[in-house]
Amino acid sequence: MDAMPMPVVELDRTNHIVFANSAAEQHFGAGRLRLRERALDEILAPGSPLILLLDHVRAKGGSVTEYGIDLAVSKTGKGELIADIYAAPLIDTNKHLLLVIQPRAMMDKMNRQLTHRDAARSVGAMASMLAHEIKNPLSGIRGAAQLIEHSLPEAEKPLSMLIRSEVDRIVRLVERFEVFSDGRPVPMALVNIHEVLDHVSRLASSGFGTNIAFEHRFDPSLPPILANRDRLIQALLNLVKNAAEAIGPETIGGRITLTTAFRPGVSVVVPTSAQRVALPFEVGIFDNGPGIPDHLLPHLFEPFVTSKASGTGLGLALVAKVVSDHGGVIECERLKGQTMFRILLPMHQERER
Ligand SMILES: Nc1ncnc2c1ncn2[C@@H]1O[C@H](COP(=O)(O)OP(=O)(O)OP(=O)(O)O)[C@@H](O)[C@H]1O
Ligand SMILES: [Mg+2]
Repeated sequence: MDAMPMPVVELDRTNHIVFANSAAEQHFGAGRLRLRERALDEILAPGSPLILLLDHVRAKGGSVTEYGIDLAVSKTGKGELIADIYAAPLIDTNKHLLLVIQPRAMMDKMNRQLTHRDAARSVGAMASMLAHEIKNPLSGIRGAAQLIEHSLPEAEKPLSMLIRSEVDRIVRLVERFEVFSDGRPVPMALVNIHEVLDHVSRLASSGFGTNIAFEHRFDPSLPPILANRDRLIQALLNLVKNAAEAIGPETIGGRITLTTAFRPGVSVVVPTSAQRVALPFEVGIFDNGPGIPDHLLPHLFEPFVTSKASGTGLGLALVAKVVSDHGGVIECERLKGQTMFRILLPMHQERER
């Protein structure tokens, strides 16, 4: 029970807490012993819908799942807290109940992971088609244009050069898709994430981010991670480029912060295998730009979602694909006036390859 990430409590027939796991202790802001002396009615705000729900479960005798209940905790002053609740009678006890609280923030994060995995898959099919059906004829067109060029009068040569340069542009676009089409495992090696982040901010500050201050907050004790360096750079560049574009090329005082941290306690359920994996490596990309438009948030990691006139909306879908190829997850949050993307990656010893 203590290993579970969500609060779990056992209540007796008067709604006194008989057992609380450690997530519940954290949630209610009190230790197990103190919780044991109290009834849930005292902890929750008066008139909490949860109490009604518990009465209902006792009367009905079966389990109930209720979504989006407001669990305002009165004494700890935490204010509004929306959670999904599972309550069930415990058999062989005198009307004891089991109560599982799934806070919404956690649910939303999990949804996001699911979404981007699906997104990457749906682009995958289209990407293989594109790469296959478009790139081959393009190389034929390019070759033919090059051949004609020799026999063309000088004045018309720019036309065949135009064909070549436009074909090259299409090839580059198709190549952006190719990352999605490749279902094979990417070759991985031990990579120093700090060296990679240095490289990315150097590229950014000499290219699209000349007006922006880059700040590093690294945990120097972080061991190397198992990753594909090129893909990782590609993903991080996309995140930093988005951050720079949000800040804007003319803005003064723009700042992008790259962080790393080791968090041994962090783990998630992988939807495909229903296994919990530890994701202790954290890479953060913060910017002080205006933030992500609200209406984009639910679909952020899906392809073709963009607010930019010339954007393809493939950047974050690609990032999601690269992160999931590395066995990790990505989340996005607005924190104290900053937009934050957080990538969580596994320890390499623990990964099944
Ligand atoms: N750091 C950020 N701050 C504010 N908005 C962001 C940030 N990152 C992403 N977005 C929003 O998410 C959208 C999708 O980003 P994504 O990288 O997938 O596509 P894009 O940047 O629009 O196009 P492309 O990456 O192909 O140039 C962006 O158009 C932007 O509105
Ligand atoms: Mg982008």
